[in-house]
Amino acid sequence: MTAEKPEAAATDSCEAAARPSTAVGGPAPTTTRDPGPAVEFTAVSRHYPGGVRALDGVGLGIGRGELLAIVGPSGSGKSTLLNLLGTLDAPTSGTVRVFGYDVGALADDQLSALRARWIGFVFQQFHLAPNVYAVDNVADGLLYSGVPARTRVRLALRALERVGLADRAYHRPHELSGGQKQRVAIARAVVGSPRLLLADEPTGALDTTSGETVMRVLRELHGDGVTVVVITHDRELAAALPRRVEVRDGRVVSDSALPGDAPCRTEAGR
Ligand SMILES: Nc1ncnc2c1ncn2[C@@H]1O[C@H](COP(=O)(O)OP(=O)(O)OP(=O)(O)O)[C@@H](O)[C@H]1O
Ligand SMILES: [Mg+2]
Repeated sequence: MTAEKPEAAATDSCEAAARPSTAVGGPAPTTTRDPGPAVEFTAVSRHYPGGVRALDGVGLGIGRGELLAIVGPSGSGKSTLLNLLGTLDAPTSGTVRVFGYDVGALADDQLSALRARWIGFVFQQFHLAPNVYAVDNVADGLLYSGVPARTRVRLALRALERVGLADRAYHRPHELSGGQKQRVAIARAVVGSPRLLLADEPTGALDTTSGETVMRVLRELHGDGVTVVVITHDRELAAALPRRVEVRDGRVVSDSALPGDAPCRTEAGR
């Protein structure tokens, strides 16, 4: 495993947090194309009408193969950040690079292709189609990938096996527990072998045991070289991950990958 230090000796972690870091952990994906970091944010802001600054000048680098938690209070900008990481949204200003591609310079069809091939999403509330077998819910994750239907089912069965649910392939969501539903959602997110898995509160709706199972699956994916970003309110869960990025009022206020990291003061204060 390699761990590059972020550039520049950061005497001020708040200032350093505004620069992209290049912390790298875990095995790298096998590709030899674009060997840069998984994600680089440079001075990224996302404003909404009415003067809401959901993100405000965020700098963040995520190395390939990292597993990290994004934490912060409700409304601090975590989901906004995740949507930008996943190219579901574009910044008002600043640059977002995903696997070396400047997202702002890509056409819509290129963005869709990038998402379909490289990015998987897991949401707090599962978002599974009701009355549809687990295997078909998972296979839907390949709908926009150009994979033929029969292959989609084969890959979906394999993805369910990966999350320990091979024996539930022909169960519908209402026949599954919360933890099992979330594992189906993870199988759907990874069925296309994404390089980057983005999970927004994947354990938020689960009891402790189910949450631990979901985290074990995410760790295994990380072990396989997938870059995994988890938003969580669960401090204990976040503390157990190799890196934590804390967001407050639309800014990154601490990043455990940066040297001498300590939470910065914000105007909102603490
Ligand atoms: N579509 C939108 N239009 C206007 N304001 C928005 C929109 N989406 C989010 N916001 C605002 O941006 C800020 C950040 O929202 P975001 O959803 O990123 O927070 P969050 O950290 O994910 O919170 P939570 O932990 O509650 O999910 C909030 O003040 C929110 O009200
Ligand atoms: Mg959110």
